[in-house]
Amino acid sequence: MSTERNNLQKRYLEAFIKGYTKRTKTSKQLMQTYRPVLADPRASEAFDPVLKEICYPIVSKRSLGSRIWDVDENEYIDLMMGFGVNLFGHNPLFIKKALQEQLEKGIQIGPQSELVGEVAELICELTGMERVAFSNTGTEAVMTAIRLARTATGRNKIVMFSGSYHGHFDGTLAKAQIEDGNPSAVPIAPGVISKFVEDILVLEYGNPQSLEVIKSHAKELAAVLVEPVQSRRPNLQPKEFLQELRQLTEASGITLIFDEMITGFRIHPGGAQAWFGIKADIATYGKIVGGGMPIGIIAGKAFYIDAIDGGMWNYGDASSPQAKKTFFAGTFCKHPLAMAAAKAVLQHLKNHGFTLQEPLNQRTSQFVKTLNAFFAENEIPIEMANFGSVFAPASSETSTLLRTSPSSIGTALLVYHLIDRGILLYLNGSGFLSTAHTDEDIDYLIQAVKDSVNELQAGGLLPSSSAQLAKR
Ligand SMILES: Cc1ncc(COP(=O)(O)O)c(C=O)c1O
Repeated sequence: MSTERNNLQKRYLEAFIKGYTKRTKTSKQLMQTYRPVLADPRASEAFDPVLKEICYPIVSKRSLGSRIWDVDENEYIDLMMGFGVNLFGHNPLFIKKALQEQLEKGIQIGPQSELVGEVAELICELTGMERVAFSNTGTEAVMTAIRLARTATGRNKIVMFSGSYHGHFDGTLAKAQIEDGNPSAVPIAPGVISKFVEDILVLEYGNPQSLEVIKSHAKELAAVLVEPVQSRRPNLQPKEFLQELRQLTEASGITLIFDEMITGFRIHPGGAQAWFGIKADIATYGKIVGGGMPIGIIAGKAFYIDAIDGGMWNYGDASSPQAKKTFFAGTFCKHPLAMAAAKAVLQHLKNHGFTLQEPLNQRTSQFVKTLNAFFAENEIPIEMANFGSVFAPASSETSTLLRTSPSSIGTALLVYHLIDRGILLYLNGSGFLSTAHTDEDIDYLIQAVKDSVNELQAGGLLPSSSAQLAKR
């Protein structure tokens, strides 16, 4: 029986891989041609010997709205959406126009961008923060937020939570370790030296015991860095924990940093701060607000952000920058194209208010609910969750399953089947809906999941449900 099953799986897999590689042959060819010169972690991500022949990213050629076309002219409904960048779909006219106008004017780097003041003002208005500074990526924004917190508090230690992602600055590439009952951190990858993370504590997110640990280290802590809802675990939305964290950090002079790279402008115009009714000291943003251009934003109370430039002063009197300054720089910060796109995005968000996010959040919840009902009915060990328009497997175990376990080849294959059906999805993580996705797109997605599951069950690569077995 098991040999019979293995043969069935083998035949099914061979046929699927043959069809998949034929359909996306140019993507595969390009990856192979340039692998000798192009080092790209995404090209070998989720490598699995069984699926080796289909382990390559789809190479895109163009995009519009909810769609992407690959180099073989296959059309996809995109769910990667720029890892959370494209809230309004691809290439929306209002951003395209702003970029075209700026291109006509040139890309002047060095003198101040004429739009930067207005962009800063709009960010303050939407997020409720007092001052902002601009970087080029989210990683830089988080790195700077940490530096500002250390400057303002004169303390070194930072608390982070397991399951969160804060970019690729060495100082946040840490994972939890308990030594003699004390929490500490070790680097997550070779090349990150332990000195970089020796002042980091990685605690469990949402666990009240973590608050006790913070209390016991309160005097040494410069900041608590939190991804209010982790994009890889959107089911964990610990509002009470966050409220208590706010009270505790405020009482102890610890900087509360919200990393709103994903939640910012997506869950609500005011991000997770507005959604949970919690005011952070510093919040970092990026992705959506750059409208497709690289951007990072460090926004916060003047007390912290003043360390960038020394703070407020006026002409015509004796005032001067008074705040203690730290180091901050970047050739491309306030890039004219990023500023033009950001202004267009922020004005669009301001004009629409929560009426832009609210229906999208609801549609995503409904989408996830429908999928979960189908998975439960078919006894498929996947459960999805969403926070607004971000969705992902509900537990980190499921996302690990999707990622690496050889026994979960069927679940990994589900993603490849969806790609084969014209749905672009990131193998390793979250998906995003945008305002450009139509109800028809969502119906198609749901049907594609159902059809893929049925096919994989017939191929012996996903377990059949008890109802299906009873019929045989
Ligand atoms: C919560 C969070 N913080 C920081 C980052 C890093 O941003 P970037 O990739 O722009 O450096 C990301 C990126 O996905 C993120 O999700």
